[in-house]
Amino acid sequence: KLSDVGVIGLGVMGKNLALNIADNGYHVAAFDVDTAKINAALEQEHHERKEGLAPRMVACNNLSEMLDKLVSPKVIVLSVPAGKIVDGICNTLIESGISSEDIVIDTGNSLWTDTVKREAHYKGKFKFFSSAVSGGEVGARFGPSLMPSGDESAWKYVAPIWKAIAAKVDSATGLPIERFEPGNPVTEGEPCTTYIGPAGSGHYVKMVHNGIEYADMQLICEAYQLLHEGLGLSTYDIGEIFKRWNQGSLNSYLMGISAEVLQQQDPETGKPLVELILDKAGQKGTGLWTAVSSLQIGCPAPTIAEAVYARAISTQKPLRVTLSKTLVGPEKQCLSQTEQNEFIDALEDALYCAKVCCYAQGFQLMAMEAKEQNWSLNFAEIAKIWRAGCIIRATFLQSITQAYEQNASLENLLLAESFSESLAAKQQNWRKTVAASVMQGIPAPCIGSAIAYYDSYRCETLPANLLQGQRDFFGAHTFERTDKPAGEKYHLDWSAKQRTLIKM
Ligand code: 6PG
Repeated sequence: KLSDVGVIGLGVMGKNLALNIADNGYHVAAFDVDTAKINAALEQEHHERKEGLAPRMVACNNLSEMLDKLVSPKVIVLSVPAGKIVDGICNTLIESGISSEDIVIDTGNSLWTDTVKREAHYKGKFKFFSSAVSGGEVGARFGPSLMPSGDESAWKYVAPIWKAIAAKVDSATGLPIERFEPGNPVTEGEPCTTYIGPAGSGHYVKMVHNGIEYADMQLICEAYQLLHEGLGLSTYDIGEIFKRWNQGSLNSYLMGISAEVLQQQDPETGKPLVELILDKAGQKGTGLWTAVSSLQIGCPAPTIAEAVYARAISTQKPLRVTLSKTLVGPEKQCLSQTEQNEFIDALEDALYCAKVCCYAQGFQLMAMEAKEQNWSLNFAEIAKIWRAGCIIRATFLQSITQAYEQNASLENLLLAESFSESLAAKQQNWRKTVAASVMQGIPAPCIGSAIAYYDSYRCETLPANLLQGQRDFFGAHTFERTDKPAGEKYHLDWSAKQRTLIKM
């Protein structure tokens, strides 16, 4: 029997996607340059397969063998690191005889502009399709969130497979249906995948998902530092607070795993493991790309950018060690039990408010880029497919879905009444938290940048009037006037004795 899907790259993500596809009834032809990885994947499928059921995965020794083993049009899933290797494999597939109707799906975290170029470059040779995947290894195995984009004729073939393997949401509650059982995939509920749009749009949306992920993670980390250093709470107790928050409006996958990480003991020493983990954060680039994109298009996304900077400053450990001994901070404050409890409650509200801002930034960024690229992105659908499977899954996404269902062309989430009202109710606590972090000398760059973002949007007038004056003073860059028609440019001859206004 010929296989339905080829999977190239059997690292953690590729192997788990292959097993997920096989679990959903498809026959998979699997290849990796490392034969040990092919064997491991086949062995795992053998172990997991229910007694009496024939295996659905076959090994391929090379890519031409894979092409021979697939039904046409051939659907090939690429799960390899983003970058040149994607093109290396595409070229080998061309040499191996792939046809113009066949479909190659790049599931890596590729830079979206590379995806746009690749789709054009491989046109006529095969259909280069892309689908970003979120959810880490467990997601890939039992249901990720999938963001496909590219050739719509390819999507027809990919859709049934993608809908089968994606995470599912209970349509009545909007909550994830989670079942992590090999051989027993979730078949009911709404799949967390939707066709995003033309080539590159899916990778762009996933890039922004990751930007939000960076900010969301950093917000939780700031809360941890404030509770640990500010209140002197143990990591275990902070884990308890996070667990409590996870029952309310802050419920999210990231909040849940943060509580677990905080309460994990080191198997070797019995100490809290998190206190033994070196405080230098890694990054693979997607958060940085989001921040760069926001700067390029002129969309304010300071909380996302701050999260990237927070990772950067974390890597400068030697400099921090030196400066920690010389730079002066405030006197340590002692809080009463009541004040501590108030602080914890205020922090919960602050996190919620900052989180709303970071999603508002991400969604506005997608909207601005979509306009630029002529993509018609459906934000209610995007919020929907992030409700399960992906790393930023959160109950909160249900409210974002509703906001976009009420108004599909919402410019910014802060315009949605549901959000502006909850921010109004919580903003005072947000301010208290930011003030406390500053007074105690504990950095909270994301919580703080989010409040500046919120307050900037609250200002009908910003000091950019003075800025325009400065620009005109030294560079004759001109300015518009509030009392004259929009678009009319003026320049003042600032150095002349008799200062005259010139209409340009
Ligand atoms: C996901 C994750 C995943 C990966 C990121 C994190 O949605 O499943 O975002 O794609 O964990 O690449 O990358 P950093 O190494 O940059 O934190």
